[in-house]
Amino acid sequence: MNNEQQLRSLEDVEKSMQHFIDERFLGQPFFKTLLKGEWTASMLHYFAWQYAHYSANFPRVLGAAISAMAPLDDWWIPLADNLWDEAGRGIPGHSHAVLYRTFLESLDPSAHIVYEDRQKWPAIGYSVAQAVKSFIDFFYNASPLEAMAAVGLGSEFFADQIMGTIGQGLRHPYYQAKSPVNTTFWDVHARHDEPRHYALCRAVLLEHTPPESYQHILEIGQYIAGSEAAMYDGIYQEALSLGV
Ligand SMILES: [Fe+2]
Ligand SMILES: [Fe+2]
Repeated sequence: MNNEQQLRSLEDVEKSMQHFIDERFLGQPFFKTLLKGEWTASMLHYFAWQYAHYSANFPRVLGAAISAMAPLDDWWIPLADNLWDEAGRGIPGHSHAVLYRTFLESLDPSAHIVYEDRQKWPAIGYSVAQAVKSFIDFFYNASPLEAMAAVGLGSEFFADQIMGTIGQGLRHPYYQAKSPVNTTFWDVHARHDEPRHYALCRAVLLEHTPPESYQHILEIGQYIAGSEAAMYDGIYQEALSLGV
């Protein structure tokens, strides 16, 4: 939907975003081959460590987004709430980095030893580094509304679908047969965290987006989501080029 006249509400913006997500994420080889059980153990290993870097950097993204917010409670608290979720809401052992570890260790037992020592992690690849950089860079010149659109529409709106799909893919009998893959990280995000994170952003967007800005926030959502879509494709291509 490119016609500005057609965007009459935030729901219209969300419908256009959904169309974009269906095309740009689920249609790409990364997701198709994962769901078909076609990944090798090395591909799973490569993805798990690359996503570990993405996940570890996500609190920085939210922190950068907060720096672009208006100095008003209504704007920054929803993002601080989201960031606090990443920290496990202060409960020891509940941070998302710890939760991610349960997935990583189920695929790579050596993670049990090296996870605490970042120097020993496999290096971050170009695709994840680029996705994190473009997300954070976006906030330097973003207005509060643009920054909220980037986090809300560009990430949280569809995170439950993408993480749910990854969890579903990882439950394929072919992957589970070798040694059980722990999908809790993906399932908890898909069912609980991500819908809540989007709701936090959505309430702000609903209240503060003037109708003439619907097209603009849609374009921002698509730009940021497009960067994340390119990250998944990049991880897949990097793994292939490494011969895994
Ligand atoms: Fe998380
Ligand atoms: Fe989230």
